[in-house]
Amino acid sequence: MPSRRKFLYTSAAGLAGLAAVPLAGAAALPQSLPPLSPATRPLVISTWDAGLNANRGAWKILGAGGYALDAVEAGVMVTEAEQSCCVGLGANPDRDGIVTLDACIMDDKFGCGSVAALERIRHPISVARRVMERTPHVLLVGPGAQQFAVAQGFPLEPQKLSADAEKAYREWLKNSQYRPVINVENSGTKPVPVGPAGGPNNHDTIAMLALDAQGRLSGSCTTSGMGFKLRGRVGDSPIIGAGLFVDPAVGAAAATGQGEDVIRMAGSHTVVELMRQGRSPQAACQEAVARIAAIKGAAARDIQVAFIAVSRRGEVGAYALQKGFSYALSTTETPRLVNSAYLLK
Ligand code: GLY
Repeated sequence: MPSRRKFLYTSAAGLAGLAAVPLAGAAALPQSLPPLSPATRPLVISTWDAGLNANRGAWKILGAGGYALDAVEAGVMVTEAEQSCCVGLGANPDRDGIVTLDACIMDDKFGCGSVAALERIRHPISVARRVMERTPHVLLVGPGAQQFAVAQGFPLEPQKLSADAEKAYREWLKNSQYRPVINVENSGTKPVPVGPAGGPNNHDTIAMLALDAQGRLSGSCTTSGMGFKLRGRVGDSPIIGAGLFVDPAVGAAAATGQGEDVIRMAGSHTVVELMRQGRSPQAACQEAVARIAAIKGAAARDIQVAFIAVSRRGEVGAYALQKGFSYALSTTETPRLVNSAYLLK
């Protein structure tokens, strides 16, 4: 009941503040921040507990002085290869029983590539990178994305659900209702059991941001999207500016949670623009979450959305709509799982 809900709309002040920001011409906006502190790099941050293993994968590259772009690709490939409810070919299918995958990647020069509704390819993040590096395009979808992947040498995997996903799909068919459940990614050790619709583990994403030893920023994002989604549904994760955005002069941000609500306010781009206007990564994530809460009103209680962000100086931030979001942070070989601050108390 709305009356029981205590919404801490820090957004009220935040949105008012935003409205008051004078819209100077683009050239007048700050394009660079003070110099980087070498002490803060390299670093990598990624969403949820799956981020621990993913960060370890990324650190093999970052710790050896490698490129952030290589790190964010290798990092989330770890998750794509794990059995999970929400990422990779082992994840929950759409309502027609087909696993469809979304991913995007962005480098430190506004290079970006995405794939959406990609089927039977184990590593959509690597296909997204090929889109970025070997085509004049940003986003390939569905059969065209698969055709491109195969032409690039990616093996076509069998059209077969994992045992966990098969079980979850059969359960879902009994009542055929999609009900997102918040925080399902925080599911403990792998392999993650795939839950029935409306139960745990039916939703979400790994997003990763890295700043390498040379100060280069990159980001990646990969997901199977909502479990049992409408066939053809695409969330925020492959949409540059929604699920991920990197501006080398400012910082990077990425999203997790209910993608529709991230798309409608261009979430990750918004976080980066708030950082450009002077917010810390933490404050920028908080303000973006507050905007979503303000848009959703009472329905905000029914969803989870969270952002992670890194400034080019190596400051990190994260903020969630609801309790339960955690992220993995690595500034050394050993990642730490950090509980995020959140809005709705
Ligand atoms: N955030 C992932 C999705 O909504 O598909």
